Amino acid sequence: EKGGYEHFMLKEIHEQPRVIRDTLKGRISHQGDKVILDEINLTPQQIKGIKKIIVTACGTAYHAGLVGKYIIEQLVRIPVEVDIASEFRYRDPIVDKDTLVVVVSQSGETADTLAALREARRRGARVVAITNVIASSVAREADDIIYTWAGPEISVASTKAYTTQLVALYLLALYLAQERNTLAAGNITEILNELKAIYTKAQEVLDNEQPIKEFAEKYHQAEDTFFIGRGLDYAVALEGSLKLKEISYIHAEAYAAGELKHGTLALIVENIPVIALATQKSLFEKMVSNIKEVKARDASVIALAMEGHTEVEKVADQVIYIPKTHQVLAPILTVIPLQLLAYYMSVCRGCDVDKPRNLAKSVTVE
Ligand code: F6R
Repeated sequence: EKGGYEHFMLKEIHEQPRVIRDTLKGRISHQGDKVILDEINLTPQQIKGIKKIIVTACGTAYHAGLVGKYIIEQLVRIPVEVDIASEFRYRDPIVDKDTLVVVVSQSGETADTLAALREARRRGARVVAITNVIASSVAREADDIIYTWAGPEISVASTKAYTTQLVALYLLALYLAQERNTLAAGNITEILNELKAIYTKAQEVLDNEQPIKEFAEKYHQAEDTFFIGRGLDYAVALEGSLKLKEISYIHAEAYAAGELKHGTLALIVENIPVIALATQKSLFEKMVSNIKEVKARDASVIALAMEGHTEVEKVADQVIYIPKTHQVLAPILTVIPLQLLAYYMSVCRGCDVDKPRNLAKSVTVE
């Protein structure tokens, strides 16, 4: 049942190219110039009337929502809030009929996410669900459903659910951009064509796991680690850090790289592993400076950068390159080495990878 892999998590990490492709299937026009989301039943008028979007979810799904904020704001220019479902449901949120609420849940059964969905609908919002389980509670109660086609996820640590949630969020963002005319047609086509090719690039990332494995072998005894990034890389850093904490029990902090100076730098000491994400072209120079800052405190830096950005080799101890793609799509690729890092750290430490202590796959009680 593990298909020759030692753990479900590793199997599911390796399934990502296929499930990314499955989640895209039938949702991009043959010419690659249009998003087809027949499952969204909003009228053109309703789409034009959206004033605010709130994404709400828990854990890894919340981290997917953070990526969603950056891309929707960038591509559609609608303000987006992302809220943890257990916060949203109790904070008397400002939601009305002009708010589109997007709930993200792999299982579709998370108690807080379901309660957030109900709260949003009670206040008159339209709710789009992104979920992996057909006819789950979230699917049954939402107005519109975008299914992720990740297949069953057995490992408690979510991997393929996250990358397919990202795919669903990209499709939603591009669909809204298309319907509201916020992007030139050429730009939509360009991103869609990159999106169509992303699964082959995900496979390339998987084929390059050796350096990650070696890094894990070298640093698995670390007590503290840091994940730093800016923009979309910061959102992915949060997910990488959660993954590591969850299954290897190593303390990890994700920090917006520009915040280091505001306190965190005090914790950077000799040999502390720092995973620096530097895939965003527009923020690359800033990240190079942040890497220099942590190197000046003798941290051990492994950087993730897009192919061609070799300048980072001068400042980091080690660099993992991800294949070139449109910078908004980088998270789909960047998260994979971080999943592998958490996995191999966990294995090196002898942890129960698929069933980490104190955690359940689906949190159906508060
Ligand atoms: C982390 C993880 C959890 C879930 C969270 C939400 O690896 O799996 O953080 O993402 O419990 O679960 P769903 O998506 O089923 O609502």
